[in-house]
Amino acid sequence: MSGRLTEALCNGLLYNVHMLKLTYICLNKFLYKCTKICIFVHLQINLHLLLLCRTVLRMKVYGVVNVKGGAGKTHAVVHLAREASHTRRVAVLDLDPTRQSVNWIELAGLGIPALAFDIKQSDLEAYITQLRTEDDFDVVLIDTPANDRDAALETLMVSDIALIPVGVGTSDTGMLGTTERQVKRAQQLRPELKAYILINRAKFAPARERETVEEAQKTGFPVLDARIPLRGEYQAAAGKVPAGLHYGEVWKEVNR
Ligand SMILES: Nc1ncnc2c1ncn2[C@@H]1O[C@H](COP(=O)(O)OP(=O)(O)O)[C@@H](O)[C@H]1O
Ligand SMILES: [Mg+2]
Repeated sequence: MSGRLTEALCNGLLYNVHMLKLTYICLNKFLYKCTKICIFVHLQINLHLLLLCRTVLRMKVYGVVNVKGGAGKTHAVVHLAREASHTRRVAVLDLDPTRQSVNWIELAGLGIPALAFDIKQSDLEAYITQLRTEDDFDVVLIDTPANDRDAALETLMVSDIALIPVGVGTSDTGMLGTTERQVKRAQQLRPELKAYILINRAKFAPARERETVEEAQKTGFPVLDARIPLRGEYQAAAGKVPAGLHYGEVWKEVNR
């Protein structure tokens, strides 16, 4: 009797030990799987964060284009460079042989690196790639000359954002079609290129401003709500520290 009891007890004990072993193995496997999943999720999150940081912090190139001279390209470049330089590392490339952006930035002592860039002598795309690799700047603004389709196209081919200043008045919108075609051609090759129209010399002649906005809207590019008024302070701004507040609104809207 006692022998059978001992045998039963031993069997019970063995069963318990087996169950414990099984539980231990299952738990181990479960924990192992959990750890693996945790590490995988952790790596995925880090990878996504890294990609997000690279996208957000990636050097952004803003090409300011309009084949029409006097539209406000140089004003936009220098004012926006000044605006951006409060929080970002900014450089200006001036493709205009008259070097108006470079001269203005140097005269006003803005402390923004500004380089006169000759696209006939140097490869703009290679230069932008080099700047991206060196990672010295967050923002590069490119000023372009009037009536130079090559300069405008090359600029559009390296830009993240194309800004098209359009002055209120028919003569500016008359030439908008050429710039529109250039931007759309660049967008066919680089669909990521965004384009915005900036209305310049606004708040002076309401009827003409309405006409200009309507013409600008026909291009299909978004027309910025922020507009630059026609003001004496802008007219006489060249060579001075930019003071107009309106470009701050433009900068915010373009980067929204
Ligand atoms: N908002 C404005 N109000 C008054 N004058 C302006 C304004 N924007 C530009 N101008 C004047 O228009 C002229 C052309 O501007 P600019 O920026 O040099 O044009 P672009 O570079 O397209 O040729 C300059 O003489 C400038 O003083
Ligand atoms: Mg200019």
